[in-house]
Amino acid sequence: MIRNDIRNVAIIAHVDHGKTTLVDAMLRQSGHFRESQLQGSCILDSNDLERERGITILAKNIAIDYREVKINLIDTPGHADFGGEVERTIKMASGCLLLVDAYDGPMPQTRFVLRKAFEAGLHPIVVINKVDRPDGRPAKVLELVYDLFIDLGADDEQIDFPVLYASGKEGWASHSLEEKGTTIEPVFEMIVNRIPGPNVRPEDPLQMQVTSLEWSEYIGKIAVGRLEAGSVKVGEKVTVIKDGKSLNKTVEKIFLFDKLGKVEAESASAGDIAALTGIAEADIGDTIACAEKPEALGRIQVEEPTLTMLFTINHSPLAGKDGQFVTSRNLRERLYRELDCNVALRVEEGASKEEFLVSGRGLLHLGILIENMRREGYELSVGKPHVIVKEIDGKKYEPIESLNVDVPSDKVGPVMELVGGRRGELVEMDTVGERTQIDFTIPSRGLIGLRTRLLNATAGEAIVHHVVADFEPMRGEVPRRPNGVMISNISGRAVAFALDGLQERGTMFVKPGDDVYPGMIVAENCRDNDLVVNPCKEKKLTNMRAAGSDKNILLAPPRDMPLELALEYIEEDELVEVTPKVIRLRKKLLT
Ligand code: GTP
Repeated sequence: MIRNDIRNVAIIAHVDHGKTTLVDAMLRQSGHFRESQLQGSCILDSNDLERERGITILAKNIAIDYREVKINLIDTPGHADFGGEVERTIKMASGCLLLVDAYDGPMPQTRFVLRKAFEAGLHPIVVINKVDRPDGRPAKVLELVYDLFIDLGADDEQIDFPVLYASGKEGWASHSLEEKGTTIEPVFEMIVNRIPGPNVRPEDPLQMQVTSLEWSEYIGKIAVGRLEAGSVKVGEKVTVIKDGKSLNKTVEKIFLFDKLGKVEAESASAGDIAALTGIAEADIGDTIACAEKPEALGRIQVEEPTLTMLFTINHSPLAGKDGQFVTSRNLRERLYRELDCNVALRVEEGASKEEFLVSGRGLLHLGILIENMRREGYELSVGKPHVIVKEIDGKKYEPIESLNVDVPSDKVGPVMELVGGRRGELVEMDTVGERTQIDFTIPSRGLIGLRTRLLNATAGEAIVHHVVADFEPMRGEVPRRPNGVMISNISGRAVAFALDGLQERGTMFVKPGDDVYPGMIVAENCRDNDLVVNPCKEKKLTNMRAAGSDKNILLAPPRDMPLELALEYIEEDELVEVTPKVIRLRKKLLT
């Protein structure tokens, strides 16, 4: 049965193309007003880091009521370590909105997500947004979207996409460029008319597949998914069907989504996206089923974490100097809070109360968490990232990922060289227009530090996605190529070394009064063998003088690389010390 009172819609948009503004306008005009509670919660807003890196990191859900229909807007993550999540979120949707800036046009970063949407058979509605921009060129942008659809192999029906022109800022949408609209209603109408409701089986016994997990300090683990069949009530006994075993549990609380995120409910029925508590054992991919007649849904692809890192409080002699959150309790609370929205993260207690083993899908995934914590005022230390290796029949198997690199066609050479040097194997290459898509398989190990190198080798143009494909016997060794610079022979107070992208350009020493240049890192108070990277990426540099300063002068290399760099460099007996002011490598202290 098609449930006509629900639409599950994935939103595909490049950062800054106006998604938040448009969704705000939709919220307001559907009779709601954006309230202050919306700020900072897990809804469709983004953090600084997302904006800076031009990626959407987390998938977030929000629902808007329009007339008799509940529209679940499913945000899609757009980058690198989040390939699996893209597929999962798209699976919950029956259609998508592709939001494109009327000046920028479609960005290469959205290609991957759009391709996944096509593969899932979704029919996009194209919204050309910000048409109020004086420099807008909506007709040209529409052509570019059309080209992109052809490039991605859209079928006839998909190519015949409906288009809306909108200004989220002014709060209207229109079917034609000639006419300025007055409300955002055409977006609602288009969603309701063009996107089918979920096809579900309300009369059958309960079946809900867990597609994401959240965690709350007060209520513990929360299992989120779409009910495919039946219904569920608070207090009901259900069976959790895992891979190979089943458990009987009682549903404690049920939440549905609305404009503010989750709201408590008494029951949920087929077609709803619901969040259940009381089922602490649930994992992504499990089916929550009727206890009397438990039947599993086909398992969905679940991306397992590939990397584990030790997180601990900062034990360095300078600990507590820079940050406001420095205790193990702070660290524990922050990590568990993160689980609330960060679906693929795992946190386990470490050997001591101060240590946590944090697992994620790659260096970008974990690096973003660390960078966010740093900006929030946390001081912590993290250990060397370890790829999670499985032992099967006494043999070691490592995670192998499907890697997709999208680059301007004249940059294919350096990409092949870099990926090849890291045990990557070419699967397929496809040149369309000026860009080439290259598919590889590569061990997760080989991905460590690869993204920044690829960006460097392609003048920032490479778009990289990867998703775990399988576990395979260990491929050969991935050679380490140092790309930071260790400081040695510290003589004066100021030490500098140059980084040009990731190319070492030699170590230099500066004395107070010397000129330093963009791309150089200058630090004081370093000890021999410290590695200092990107201490303050906020600053764009022009020439600057180290002149007679008593303060630390910390200059940033090009944005977007440094923590990953330190993590690539780190040795077993070292930690990366992360504080709001500095990221540096240091030896583990013997305690
Ligand atoms: P993230 O939340 O970072 O993913 O960005 P976003 O895609 O949600 O974009 P957001 O709504 O934050 O808007 C980005 C910028 O574009 C802001 O400076 C907005 O003021 C501006 N903007 C958004 N919508 C419009 C619009 O319809 N017209 C114009 N001219 N500017 C807009």
